[in-house]
Amino acid sequence: MTSLLKPAVVDSINGQVIEEFTASLQYVAIAFHFEAETLPELAQFFHAQANEEHQHAMKLLNYISEAGGKTVVPATKPVKNEFETAEEAISLALHQEIKVTEQINHLMDIAIKENDHLTRHFLQWFVNEQLEEVSSMSDLLRVVKRAGEANLLLVEDYLARNGRGGVEDYLARNGRGGGSRSMDIPF
Ligand SMILES: [Fe+2]
Ligand SMILES: [Fe+2]
Repeated sequence: MTSLLKPAVVDSINGQVIEEFTASLQYVAIAFHFEAETLPELAQFFHAQANEEHQHAMKLLNYISEAGGKTVVPATKPVKNEFETAEEAISLALHQEIKVTEQINHLMDIAIKENDHLTRHFLQWFVNEQLEEVSSMSDLLRVVKRAGEANLLLVEDYLARNGRGGVEDYLARNGRGGGSRSMDIPF
């Protein structure tokens, strides 16, 4: 099939596939860290995140394939498995989301430079998705910091009652204000 995509675009999207699969496995590692700590709600939160990242990688591969480009399924980058605290694990997750946001922006820059309107349209979904990803991870980190490492059962209770979306509701009720989609990064 004729490819609708220029080589630079295919290469950069294939490059992002590495990042999304790595993110997925990093979240699996964090989920099992919380399993080992007997914090099942936090574990569940990260299992769900891992599934989402897997879907992101598949979405990118499907796009390349559909547009007639050559997909490359990569080996992932190293994954961190040792964490001293919940805060450390969730900080890593937030940094990962911020890094991915920069990478998506860079992909968009390449699509614009190549006058690739199809890819621009496709990537806009990822641009929007990163707002949610950074926002929810930033909120979870704030909830964990507020509870403290000795009181992670409060975080569990809170996640059990509210789920992922509840992170944002909780913060809105407790003085954050300004709606549930803040981009406020705590460092
Ligand atoms: Fe992602
Ligand atoms: Fe993500």
